[in-house]
Amino acid sequence: MKVLSVTSELYPLIKTGGLADVAGALPLALAEHGVEMRSLLPGYPVVIKALKSTEAVYHYDNLFGGPAALLATKIAGLDLYVIDAPHLYDRNGGAYGDPNGNDWPDNWQRFAALSRVGADIAEGKLAGFKPDLVHAHDWQAALTIAYMRFGPANNVPSVMTVHNLAFQGRFPAGIFGGLGLAGEAMTVDGVEYYGGVGFLKAGLQSAWAVTTVSPTYAQEIRTPEFGMGLDGLINRRAPDLYGIVNGIDDDVWNPATDKHLAASYKAEALDKRAANRAAIEERFGLEHDDTPIFCVVSRLTWQKGVDLLVEIADPLVAMGARLAVLGSGDSGLEGQLLAAAARHRGRIGVVIGYDEALSHLMQGGADAILIPSRFEPCGLTQLYGLRYGCVPVVARTGGLADTVIDANEAAVTAGVATGFVHDAADARALLNAVQQAVELHRDTQIWASLQKQGMKSDVSWTRSAKKYADLYSNLLARKPGQQM
Ligand code: ADP
Ligand code: GLC
Repeated sequence: MKVLSVTSELYPLIKTGGLADVAGALPLALAEHGVEMRSLLPGYPVVIKALKSTEAVYHYDNLFGGPAALLATKIAGLDLYVIDAPHLYDRNGGAYGDPNGNDWPDNWQRFAALSRVGADIAEGKLAGFKPDLVHAHDWQAALTIAYMRFGPANNVPSVMTVHNLAFQGRFPAGIFGGLGLAGEAMTVDGVEYYGGVGFLKAGLQSAWAVTTVSPTYAQEIRTPEFGMGLDGLINRRAPDLYGIVNGIDDDVWNPATDKHLAASYKAEALDKRAANRAAIEERFGLEHDDTPIFCVVSRLTWQKGVDLLVEIADPLVAMGARLAVLGSGDSGLEGQLLAAAARHRGRIGVVIGYDEALSHLMQGGADAILIPSRFEPCGLTQLYGLRYGCVPVVARTGGLADTVIDANEAAVTAGVATGFVHDAADARALLNAVQQAVELHRDTQIWASLQKQGMKSDVSWTRSAKKYADLYSNLLARKPGQQM
């Protein structure tokens, strides 16, 4: 079965968050299930620079305002199509915005272009590759599904995956004329959303199946609290809604072989983590002692509950614990964390920025990872924590709730606990969980059993890749007329 994956990020070429990790790992995992997945992504400068040998397989005289070429290439075992369209993607800054963090004003064209090319491939415009099914990720790729539905590829099955409902790609109605969609698409049944154009809404409306990245989040987004205004539509799509939890690429995230660690290790030799712990102490200016180091590797935003973390920073230190934070995001939260570090030199260290290598070291050396998210579609850092013996302390929401087993009395006695789970959006509950972790950390035997149990959990793609493969097969088997 041939599948086209359309995505705005893909590890190892371009990453701002978990979407990249998923888009980079899923094709490799699906190959074992007989799925040949090729991925389409925009040719940002970092992507174009990373390409070695490429072949131009298609040309556009005018793709949203300028000429473009579609380049085919293979990198890190992934089959890729990259859109080389300098007028849309060749600029200094990030995938979505300028160096100051402002969205690019022409994002609607940049991602409509990605989607247009996705639909063209679905229509069979490439000589060598006609997908049996198209899988679009998040709002940036969602319009692919609208172009398919209102064009010749409307008989090609499609899957829309929501990685985060908070980002919807909403634009004023005035852009509709520039999208090149049939006029009939500008209705509630199409791309129209509260009088404007909604990219993600369009994908949710028209995809043959909608998936999100954990079973709990699939239920949560059906409620007004988590539905971000789309819960009505999502409820209408409920018969075609699936929650499939993310896995991790266990070659990239393997403590036994990880080149970013000061010392690699296996579950049988957890004492080797000490070298990584010492490296973290150096890097974050922390005192050297035996108290637990809690780490955070995160976008610093309200979604991630970073304000709650700021709230418990002082009491966490008072309990004798230490905190190492790596992240960037909201400048107010960055400032509050830096202020906490200044108040508690040697006990709290903060690195503002994005650092892939350091993120591995933190998983390999910190005792626990804090993830107090208000909502979390899946979350990957708790999965890395499980794999690395960095015990997750997580809010009970979304994929966090689906992947961590709380160290309550019964679970500890049964030897099945893998972390700490607390009520979401509640600083006191977060602090209680931290307190409980600090106490259990003193019992080296129990702590080692938490680490080992986590390291045994299956966080690979094995089961979830099979679920996607089965979903694809079921959609392909649908008879005409049963599409949605
Ligand atoms: P989200 O995609 O919502 O940000 P996830 O937990 O799914 O959350 O994925 C985040 C990914 O980004 C993980 O791979 C994590 O290690 C990585 N990450 C987040 N912040 C940083 C950072 N400052 N430096 C390095 N990696 C980071
Ligand atoms: C989004 C979500 C995160 C999820 C990731 C990959 O960024 O916020 O929870 O793990 O996508 O699916």
